[in-house]
Amino acid sequence: MLTHEENERLTRVGPGTPMGQLLRRYWQPICPLAELTPQKPMKRVRMLGEDLIVLRMPDGTYGLMQERCQHRGASLYYGFLEDDGLRCAYHGWKYALDGRCIEQPFEPAGSTFRERVCQPAYSVEQLAGLLFAYMGPPERKPLVPRWDVLARRDGTRAIYIHAVLEANWLQPMENAVDTVHTYFLHGHMMKMKGIAAGQYYLRPILNYEFEPFEWGIIKRRTYGGENPETEAGHPLLFPNALRVPTGPFHAVHWRMPIDDEHTQIFEVEFSGTPDGSDADQREEDIRVEYLPSGMTEDGEYDMLTFPSQDKMAYETAGAIYDRTVEHLGASDRGIALYRKMLREQLAIVEAGGDPMALVWDPSQNEIIRFATSRGQAAWTQAEGYFERQAASTP
Ligand code: FES
Ligand SMILES: [Fe+2]
Repeated sequence: MLTHEENERLTRVGPGTPMGQLLRRYWQPICPLAELTPQKPMKRVRMLGEDLIVLRMPDGTYGLMQERCQHRGASLYYGFLEDDGLRCAYHGWKYALDGRCIEQPFEPAGSTFRERVCQPAYSVEQLAGLLFAYMGPPERKPLVPRWDVLARRDGTRAIYIHAVLEANWLQPMENAVDTVHTYFLHGHMMKMKGIAAGQYYLRPILNYEFEPFEWGIIKRRTYGGENPETEAGHPLLFPNALRVPTGPFHAVHWRMPIDDEHTQIFEVEFSGTPDGSDADQREEDIRVEYLPSGMTEDGEYDMLTFPSQDKMAYETAGAIYDRTVEHLGASDRGIALYRKMLREQLAIVEAGGDPMALVWDPSQNEIIRFATSRGQAAWTQAEGYFERQAASTP
């Protein structure tokens, strides 16, 4: 249970809020590369409570700036994209990608007014078919982390865009360290619906544990029953992503806060080539799939898929779940650990420091493979598990 003030501190993401400042220290996914084309080079996006436009310049570079023009507030989405910047459609002020105002057509010749005007703009990078934004202090900008799923060459990637969640970002993220929810919400639900896909989760959970590590929290689970096994790890990547080892696939899910009450899940899935050879997939060839809403015509959750089941759990708790009335049990210890980590990192940022899980050194960022504090063994073991799964999948 949290106080109202603690709940506000952990959930609100707008500019100037403590959590907004922490989340802005990490690269966040904006949209798939494929959504911007020479024919349609701009898209409106809302991230961390800010209305922005992402744009693709004629030379193929990308930018992200606030949607409202600094002059009189018109939307720059309707502006003219020129070789060196974006010209507002209202009075023609032009902005470079870094936000500098480079033209004010109706100001007196020789005026220096434009030098005192700056359109808020953010850095954009591309990786694994996605565009990422960094919205934190420019002088503290880290590298885009090249996690294995995003950077391995020996396989192909696909992008899945989930239906927008009408729920605060912390609801899906707390679910990322809620190991036991899979038994009823997925396993039992699928069984009741006559769907085979949830059998994996319908085994007795003998034990589960959570371990902080340099990238966030590793969770492990041991199943009993007729098909016992210990999962080697399923890390929460601090602050708002999840590394999912699913059958022969590996995936990363980000829970990008659109604003306080909406969240966009982006998912990149990687599947290795059978012989481990390089697939050399080009970023622009990565398939993008938009998942269905998971809702029936009557506006109810269909509960037929994992995303629909999870969406029900996130959204029905309220747009911003009121944690003053929750009752955390012993099985919720992963949630308690994650909140502790968030509080510690909030305090570090408030004291002027750099939070955890940032990458600064390019030599450490070729492919990040998640060695845990127990060493690489856990993931080597995991690879063996995935291979067995792959072999038994028809
Ligand atoms: S509102 Fe953009 S130039 Fe006037
Ligand atoms: Fe789930």
